[in-house]
Amino acid sequence: METSDRLNYNTFEATAERSKKLEEDLVRNPSKYRVLTGDRPTGRLHIGHLFGSLQNRVRLQELGVQTYIVIADYQVLTDRDAFESIAENILQITMDCMAAGLRPEGGNTFIFPHSHVPELNQLLLPFLTLVTMAELDRNPTVKEEIQAAGQKRINAGMYTYPVHQAADILFCKGNVVPVGKDQLPHLEITRVIARRFNDRFAAKKPVFPEPQPLLSNAPIILGLDGSQKMSKSRNNAIMLSATEEETASLIKKAKTDADRVITYDPAKRPEVSNLLLLISLCTGEPPETIAEKIGDGGSGRLKSILTEALNYFLKPLRQRRRELESDLGYIRKVLRSGIEQAQKAGAETLNEVREAMNMKI
Ligand code: TRP
Repeated sequence: METSDRLNYNTFEATAERSKKLEEDLVRNPSKYRVLTGDRPTGRLHIGHLFGSLQNRVRLQELGVQTYIVIADYQVLTDRDAFESIAENILQITMDCMAAGLRPEGGNTFIFPHSHVPELNQLLLPFLTLVTMAELDRNPTVKEEIQAAGQKRINAGMYTYPVHQAADILFCKGNVVPVGKDQLPHLEITRVIARRFNDRFAAKKPVFPEPQPLLSNAPIILGLDGSQKMSKSRNNAIMLSATEEETASLIKKAKTDADRVITYDPAKRPEVSNLLLLISLCTGEPPETIAEKIGDGGSGRLKSILTEALNYFLKPLRQRRRELESDLGYIRKVLRSGIEQAQKAGAETLNEVREAMNMKI
């Protein structure tokens, strides 16, 4: 293998540098780019998703960048048996995205589950021939997920889903992928697959772009237990769809510490600092200033300020979500037109792929 063709999972520094340049160019030339990103439909979205990724997606959409949101329903099957609620979760996630400000009705944003796009899924087969077993086995994110799942028998979908994720991104020639750090190994596989496909089958006329990661500069939101990332499965999340009362009672139970004087110190006081950060994300005031104002008001004062700030901030989003909930027929229509657009983009790409691979008859 050529050096340039090696799959290197440790690219963080260079990636961060490139991501900064990409960010600048996105603002200047939004029409050069197509964003592709997505979620697994394992449940509704929470405020960690909102501050960590949804707001950024909306920002890119508002810059005028075409935005494809894939709901990765096949990926759910890699590490859990639960498939009963996939359809329900697809509808819930679509509503969360739309309530947060993604606007499929604007004609430049598309939301679709990948299981409904055969043209996308077909790409998996040639793509699997472009990576080695050893490369799949070395993927650090997959390794962590295998550990976290705690299963003895790991299905092959777990090892190969990053290749399927390459199909998610490349079927529509997505060239910008907003990601957190954990997704970088998958994006590296996508880039290598694009490069190897072009080198092997399409040297004269490359078919695929090498998609670039856009690293989020949003802070990581911890759960209300303060010890780990907010996540529905860890039971430490505030869902976007929670009521104001549910929000208040979750915050009341949030973990803090015994020091009455509130200070912003993420290293020494992660729980208190996380709550300050959440207030700051709602009000725009720096967390240090908020802490100073609370002074020796203790965690009671901290929590009541957070409850008020968060419920106020989420009010329009929740209002919009309730409107959407009352018309699921409309949500299904949004998904159908997202699927239609994805199928169209996928058919064009698949045609080029067949031509490049000498499979056109
Ligand atoms: N693996 C991603 C996650 O677990 C979801 C995902 C599937 C995705 N396909 C994608 C993200 C394509 C970005 C691009 O969150």
